[in-house]
Amino acid sequence: MGVRIVRTVKELHGEIGAGSVFVPTMGALHEGHASLMRIARQEARRRGGAKCIVSVFVNPTQFTENDDLAAYPRTLEADLIVCEREGVDAVFVPGVEEVYPRGVQVRVPSLPNVATEPGLEDRCRPGHFAGVCQVVLRLFEMVRPAAAVFGEKDWQQLQVVRAMVKQEGLGIEIVPGPTVRDADGLALSSRNVRLGLDERRAALVLNRALVRAGRTADPAIAEGSMRDELASSAVEVEYAVIRDAETLGPVEGSRTCRALVAVRVGKVRLIDNARWPMNRMG
Ligand code: PAJ
Repeated sequence: MGVRIVRTVKELHGEIGAGSVFVPTMGALHEGHASLMRIARQEARRRGGAKCIVSVFVNPTQFTENDDLAAYPRTLEADLIVCEREGVDAVFVPGVEEVYPRGVQVRVPSLPNVATEPGLEDRCRPGHFAGVCQVVLRLFEMVRPAAAVFGEKDWQQLQVVRAMVKQEGLGIEIVPGPTVRDADGLALSSRNVRLGLDERRAALVLNRALVRAGRTADPAIAEGSMRDELASSAVEVEYAVIRDAETLGPVEGSRTCRALVAVRVGKVRLIDNARWPMNRMG
């Protein structure tokens, strides 16, 4: 039997129709993705039995380095097993031509401010969020969900998608899913499989830095302690900052804040984040 696979919008709407709960992914699925599927199923039940759809599409327009796109793991067989196990109703696996038809200009929405906040992803991966917004808008247009689930692991992406949905008046509810970690604290990521043994050990410094920052209620001191912690390991720091959790602008009278880090471990780029400070709820 297996899970239902659909490759075109036509097939998708023949099967499912609009109003589903949607989990967009790039495949290489792990327990983090599976947790989003469980949240999606719960949300679907809450909506009186809506369908639950996962997409698997490695979006070329959001990669800023060609070798990263080529090296991105592709594991469709195993991905389908995860989707089946989690009981999703259909897996949407469009080809590049389905998402970006030849001769059709697929719109890139104007970027919300949170996408270009200085010192974060835009500096390290210029053009990345333009590609993410383009594909998420296009996938939303194809799938026409009522709600979509995004992981807190990619905190800035979550805020960018929320802002885009608002800006475009899409009326899709964005449901966040907490970051799933390995027992040693490393956030699960499709890129972790590219880490060597020593690199994986070095990567644990991300979580250590976030935990250490979370113990200090002063943002400047917290940023300093993150940098100190990161300097103790063989990683190259791209950013380690405390920001407003929603706008990702500077912390000034912010209601909730977030600690965010990005590093390179060898050839692999890793990001992580946590609520800040940690003893406060929110
Ligand atoms: P991808 O990296 O495959 O992630 C798909 C979803 O899984 C995202 O919402 C991401 O935040 C979430 N996720 C990844 N690791 C997680 C973890 N350890 N715990 C919880 N959730 C986790 O993000 C993308 O794909 C793409 O940019 C996409 C939105 C699909 C657009 O192409």
